[in-house]
Amino acid sequence: MENIGTKRLETARLILRKGSLKDAEEIFNNYCTDSLVTKYVTWNVHKSIDDSLNYLKHWEESYKKDHSYKWLIEDKEISQVVGAIAAINVDVKNKTIEIGYCLGSNWWNKGYMTEAFKEVIKFLFEEVGVETIYAEHLAANSSSGKVMLKSGMKYEGSLRNRLIDKNTNKPTDLESYSIIREDYFNNK
Ligand SMILES: CC(C)(COP(=O)(O)OP(=O)(O)OC[C@H]1O[C@@H](n2cnc3c(N)ncnc32)[C@H](O)[C@@H]1OP(=O)(O)O)[C@@H](O)C(=O)NCCC(=O)NCCS
Repeated sequence: MENIGTKRLETARLILRKGSLKDAEEIFNNYCTDSLVTKYVTWNVHKSIDDSLNYLKHWEESYKKDHSYKWLIEDKEISQVVGAIAAINVDVKNKTIEIGYCLGSNWWNKGYMTEAFKEVIKFLFEEVGVETIYAEHLAANSSSGKVMLKSGMKYEGSLRNRLIDKNTNKPTDLESYSIIREDYFNNK
């Protein structure tokens, strides 16, 4: 696996790039204070701009380490950051990467995350040289599963009662998807 790090990527409508402290106001306004966004992710809405600054400080620190892949997603039309896509787990020995993502609800259902994820998948297979990319979503979050399928992933199965859903306080399944190197190059 090549240690390329977070390289700037571009699609028809989006720019994927590193985050810095300068982005705090936009991430705060566009997705970090959006309770629809945080409903199915591990983190909670940011209460003040300091939370957004801390989040980005953590990102800046992570770029100093090997194999850090964390992109902010900028909508070219408005030149603003509207979401993020990042490697949550990187296993260099086994060449596997887990991806997570989020997008401000004002920008949902325009195909943005599928567009971003496809570009990240291309980069990770073609340039970083990973073997497997995987992603998981809470059972209730079916739009995320659609993004995974539309991006070329296959459904692998349910990890039963793997997490407590913070909305219901009850155990919920995690739905797991992946794409392997062979799938990607055979379907290019
Ligand atoms: C999940 C998320 C990233 C999707 O981003 P997006 O840019 O809207 O995704 P896309 O437009 O590429 O695709 C969304 C798909 O879900 C579908 N969808 C939307 N709401 C849905 C719902 N309530 N139930 C089922 N499908 C739904 C859309 O119709 C679309 O599918 P289609 O192209 O077949 O019509 C975005 O909703 C989000 O950030 N959610 C909050 C954070 C989150 O859940 N992150 C993932 C954690 S695993």
